[in-house]
Amino acid sequence: MENQPQIELRNVTHAYVTDTGPLPVLDNLSLAVDTGKFTAVVGPSGCGKSTLTRLIAGLMTPDQGEVSLSGKPVRSPRSTVGMAFQNPVLLEWRNILDNVLLPLEIVNNNLQQKQREDRAFELLSLVGLEGFEDKRPSELSGGMRQRASLCRALVHRPEVLILDEPFGALDAFTREDLWQIMHELRREEQFTCLLITHDLRESVFLADQVVVLSGRPATSQYVLNVDLGDRRSLEDLYTKESVEMLAVLRQQIQIAQGRHVALEEKA
Ligand SMILES: Nc1ncnc2c1ncn2[C@@H]1O[C@H](COP(=O)(O)OP(=O)(O)O)[C@@H](O)[C@H]1O
Ligand SMILES: [Mg+2]
Repeated sequence: MENQPQIELRNVTHAYVTDTGPLPVLDNLSLAVDTGKFTAVVGPSGCGKSTLTRLIAGLMTPDQGEVSLSGKPVRSPRSTVGMAFQNPVLLEWRNILDNVLLPLEIVNNNLQQKQREDRAFELLSLVGLEGFEDKRPSELSGGMRQRASLCRALVHRPEVLILDEPFGALDAFTREDLWQIMHELRREEQFTCLLITHDLRESVFLADQVVVLSGRPATSQYVLNVDLGDRRSLEDLYTKESVEMLAVLRQQIQIAQGRHVALEEKA
């Protein structure tokens, strides 16, 4: 039992019930993320990536197959999970500090108010938001709001962090800042991460493993191990090794989109 992956999906198949009949979204999908590791999931738009995060978060259960965290089947939401999305969904009537503190008001813990605040301050300073604790969300830039959202996702020290395209709406420079902050958070905090992204460079920069999903209904089409070490800089994305990895991923995405054959025929 010792080497159990922290996040595991085994042969997961799921369809949504719609007015026009069942919509198969996931097909026999298996993937595993070991404790402390970082997996990025990429795949065509609408292939089932957000569905995958909802299953891991226990917001839904699959028609077939099993989702487990630390070897225990997921049947409902767990407090050992933290989540962040493309839209940071901060509450405007709370300041940044109180937004970050929110999970500690909900999740069972025996922390005193002072301890909770110390924890929130620690995270806010780690992501460069020291001094913004009293601001309202609307007073912050998009990148800063997303940093606050990451703090809120981590404040209760979750074992598992699920990120669904958290940097997708940010401009390129802000996005790269956030990538560096993710590395910083990984060095300072302990969590196992599953990141959904449509940015292949982001997946290579951040992850230990990149899973490419096929088109809908999605299955695991290709798995790439990224051996770039723990200390990564943006320049690492331009090495021969990285350029080759990105080319492989781009080709896999084309296959997933069903465009591969068409492109080859054209060449
Ligand atoms: N609650 C739902 N009911 C019916 N169809 C849904 C529901 N949620 C998502 N879908 C459909 O399932 C497919 C996969 O959705 P999603 O997991 O959000 O994809 P992705 O995140 O990869 O873009 C899409 O076609 C979407 O329209
Ligand atoms: Mg999605």
